[in-house]
Amino acid sequence: MAFVLAATGSAVGLGNIWKFPYITGENGGGAFVLVYLLCIAVVGIPIMMAEVMIGRRGGRSPINSMRILAERDRLSSRWKWLAGVGVLASFLILSFYSVIGGWAVSYVGTAASGQLSGQSAEVIGAIFSGLLGDPGKLLIWHSLFMALTMLVVARGLRGGLERAVTILMPALFVLLLLLVGYAMTTGHFGQAASFLFRPDFSSLTTEAVLVALGHAFFTLSLGMGVMMAYGSYLNKNVSIAKTSLLVSLMDTGVALLAGLAIFPIVFANGLEPGAGPGLIFQTLPLAFGQMPLGSLFGTLFFVLLVFAAWTSAISLLEPLVEWLEEQKGMNRLVSTLGAGSLCWLLGIASILSLNEWSGFAPLGMFAAFEGKTVFDLLDYLTANILLPLGGLLVAVFVGWFMARQALENELSLRGPWFGLWYGVLRYVTPVAVAIVFIYNLV
Ligand code: PFF
Ligand code: NA
Repeated sequence: MAFVLAATGSAVGLGNIWKFPYITGENGGGAFVLVYLLCIAVVGIPIMMAEVMIGRRGGRSPINSMRILAERDRLSSRWKWLAGVGVLASFLILSFYSVIGGWAVSYVGTAASGQLSGQSAEVIGAIFSGLLGDPGKLLIWHSLFMALTMLVVARGLRGGLERAVTILMPALFVLLLLLVGYAMTTGHFGQAASFLFRPDFSSLTTEAVLVALGHAFFTLSLGMGVMMAYGSYLNKNVSIAKTSLLVSLMDTGVALLAGLAIFPIVFANGLEPGAGPGLIFQTLPLAFGQMPLGSLFGTLFFVLLVFAAWTSAISLLEPLVEWLEEQKGMNRLVSTLGAGSLCWLLGIASILSLNEWSGFAPLGMFAAFEGKTVFDLLDYLTANILLPLGGLLVAVFVGWFMARQALENELSLRGPWFGLWYGVLRYVTPVAVAIVFIYNLV
């Protein structure tokens, strides 16, 4: 139970409700969704099982678990640096994740004040642009979100928060169902469903395939050791396959519900599916503005979104703090303050790239990064490069270097299931990640 709560708290977050709908809109819908679901099944779930297994077998922090397992099988101690890729990725992700978490915090107030009720799409859009255009406000909300995250990590309150997951996650689920119910009344539900689930492969680009793969890692919190850390909570007699599957299904369910809630509103109001990162903040407020008790439900929804983002952000800060404690011998408070303030500082660059620096593309001289702001680059570098790279290394380590017998004991799968998982992890996962990488980078 502790594992499922922690892993679900980490997995379900802004990736599901904020990122999934907007990248689906940007990448043309159905075909992208199908590729994403395929990536979850053949890359995400097998790697989650591998990471959880490393964590349970090692029983320590990711870097030490990797070291112990490598030593046990007389492998190079350099494998432990695999966990180092994860620490770097979590630092970069948290810096912008906290900025978006800040948007969600600010919308708690916007919804509660009743400003959204009965407003048109133009007014709702203007409220959002007003927020993005104001670096001062963004900084306040980003700071608040980061402070909330640091507070929990510094005081080791994670246990209490994980218990709250048992109530608040189902509540989020119910509110999403309510939004889907509202979306059905817009008259555009069928159009949205076919946008999401009827694949049109002629519109699928190679970049979209990379985005789908990267998002499978991002949304399941893979490729950076988070699931290794949580795997060390798992009892020996619990099935790694079943729990990994459960967490992945819940995560995917939340993302698909968010899509079904948002796209009918997009079509009903003549909005642009490819509107980008502001998509949920320009659509859901319209729904709350029109439904009975909308201010109440809207406030509740954004509170729950903040909560989901918060539990994910904590899982991003933890590994960094633990790493500083273990490697640099700092105490918990000092390492939390250090790691947290660095993330906060880098977050300011993401804030500015939404307004003052919106025309600034630091790596614009490379065709692949043309027009990408600091915020875009951080997102691209982590989700599309670092996380798949971390995942690839996990697959190679477990599939090609660890002793097969150890894996069989650890997973204790019946019938053909072990062979299936092992085959997928050895061949399908690394080849899929490598092909998508090579296609996009060369
Ligand atoms: N999985 C989280 C989400 O979907 O919002 C984001 C995330 C958390 C990514 C933790 C990576 C991670 F290690
Ligand atoms: Na997620």
